[in-house]
Amino acid sequence: MTYILGIETSCDETAASVVKDGTVIVSNVVASQIESHKRFGGVVPEIASRHHVEQITLVIEEAMKQADLQPKDLSAVAVTEGPGLVGALLIGIQAAKAFAFANQLPLIGVHHIAGHVYANALEHPMEFPMLALVISGGHTELVVMEEDGRFEKIGETRDDAAGEAYDKVARVLKLPYPGGPHIDRLASTSDGAVEFPRVWLEEDSYDFSFSGLKSAVINYQHNLQQKGEEINPSHVAAGFQQSVVEVVTEKTRRAAEAYGVKQVIAAGGVAANKGLRAKLEMTFKEANIPFYVPSLPLCTDNAAMIAAAGYSKYKAGDFAGFDMNGRPGMPL
Ligand code: KG4
Ligand code: ZN
Repeated sequence: MTYILGIETSCDETAASVVKDGTVIVSNVVASQIESHKRFGGVVPEIASRHHVEQITLVIEEAMKQADLQPKDLSAVAVTEGPGLVGALLIGIQAAKAFAFANQLPLIGVHHIAGHVYANALEHPMEFPMLALVISGGHTELVVMEEDGRFEKIGETRDDAAGEAYDKVARVLKLPYPGGPHIDRLASTSDGAVEFPRVWLEEDSYDFSFSGLKSAVINYQHNLQQKGEEINPSHVAAGFQQSVVEVVTEKTRRAAEAYGVKQVIAAGGVAANKGLRAKLEMTFKEANIPFYVPSLPLCTDNAAMIAAAGYSKYKAGDFAGFDMNGRPGMPL
């Protein structure tokens, strides 16, 4: 049996988890900082680092306690090496190094996106070749995995991440941070939708762009304001979401067919979006390609996904040195 302690501090959640054999969650502790960042309308890096420092030891202790394990029962410590906020990453990395060194355990550096992808291994067997749609506050990427541990990025956002666009549009609509879930809720109950553009880029491109759509929403609001009219937030939310969902789903479907994958998975905070999940599910049912999306707590940042991704590197003997550093722009 292989127990791996996972640690994640790349953004605004301080998280630790123990995972057995890369597939079974033994404990999963997440301390969210959302409340502290809310009044600033986004994550403030310096505040994030301070919270991580305060929380990290408690969170690791709690994960070990809930797992009812001693450090000697573990096989390795896996930690998010990047990408993310450098000050935030460093707290998790230092804690992981200290824990691994004190208990003579090997250290594993995990890419945050690999973590989001391997969240799926905690709920169903992963089959390759696989296509992963990673869609979060920091990323919007299409990644092909020909085999376990191998990633090929075939498309990414050229400007804002989808979640970032959700959060910025939410701010225009005066919704609280993070805005994604609020837009999702408004969109799902709306009785109409404003027509916003679809940004396809070049015909064969798997890249995304969301900043133009965000500007279209801002311009729409501005124009109505000048005419002295009120905007209907539900109609704006629904129109924005329709544009995002249509483009993301269509590009994912095209990629899945072009690469002949056996499985499509979605991961990351925006994969929690009800409208997106429903459209992806319907599309891949029609295309006859198995599609999976993790349950909500495993879509957003957590450390179980880091431990699961760490297990793949553990099997490959891919360990890190104690000179590991935070890599804010780490490539996949
Ligand atoms: O994966 P995550 O927890 O952190 C990053 O790695 O970025 O994703 C957070 C992002 C935020 O932008 C949040 O607004 C968005 O995911 N999000 C959603 C939904 N739930 C969270 N966006 C749209 N619809 C949702 N239901
Ligand atoms: Zn994330």
